[in-house]
Amino acid sequence: MLKIHFSQADPTLRRDVAVYPDFITQEQHDALVEQLAPVFRRKRYEKGHWDAVITDYKESERADESWNQTNRDTIEQIRTSNVMPPGLGPWLPVHAIDLSAQGHIKPHVDSVKFSGKVVAGLSLLSTALMTLRHEDTGATAALLLPPRSFYMLQGDARYRCTHEVSPADADGAVTWHGKAYPRGRRISLIFRDALVAGSGGGGGGGVSAGGAPGYGYGAPQ
Ligand code: OGA
Ligand code: MN
Repeated sequence: MLKIHFSQADPTLRRDVAVYPDFITQEQHDALVEQLAPVFRRKRYEKGHWDAVITDYKESERADESWNQTNRDTIEQIRTSNVMPPGLGPWLPVHAIDLSAQGHIKPHVDSVKFSGKVVAGLSLLSTALMTLRHEDTGATAALLLPPRSFYMLQGDARYRCTHEVSPADADGAVTWHGKAYPRGRRISLIFRDALVAGSGGGGGGGVSAGGAPGYGYGAPQ
């Protein structure tokens, strides 16, 4: 089934957004969840204050050495996969986010202060709905992100579009083309390449809301 719905024919977004279902195996998924479980068990869900970009979440920046060999292999497989654009700088540590069933992320553009051309995410545990909105054209793309899927934002999708992760509705679900998908607790692993000095980036701005490890979320829209 198609995992992206574009609001209108938008060649830019079509080029710069991708969703890959079944990007890792169930065994790889379970191994990641298992290693993250005690990490997140020690933390409380943070509410964030009234204007926060993200609510009801836990997060952890995971140094490469912190992963067991199985998960290190999975992360390496993703970083070196042929869906990645060529010529990226070194990878930042994986940023793991645990959203509660009520958690969601408001529209924002990731900070351009530390992270480079790619913002990509692996979804675990439950299906989420992401929406991109182009700041200039208003074009939107809706992304259905089931567990084990991987999405990639680059170009305008990275720099010129806000992205958000929708809250669940009153029934605890997100709706995609008329079908409801339970949206429970959801973990994502975010992959970002380091900003390499002189590479240009193309973002501008770079407002960081602070709070997030290292790179932060861009200013809320
Ligand atoms: C972020 C973000 C999306 C996700 O951490 O900046 O937008 O899939 N995360 O969790
Ligand atoms: Mn983001």
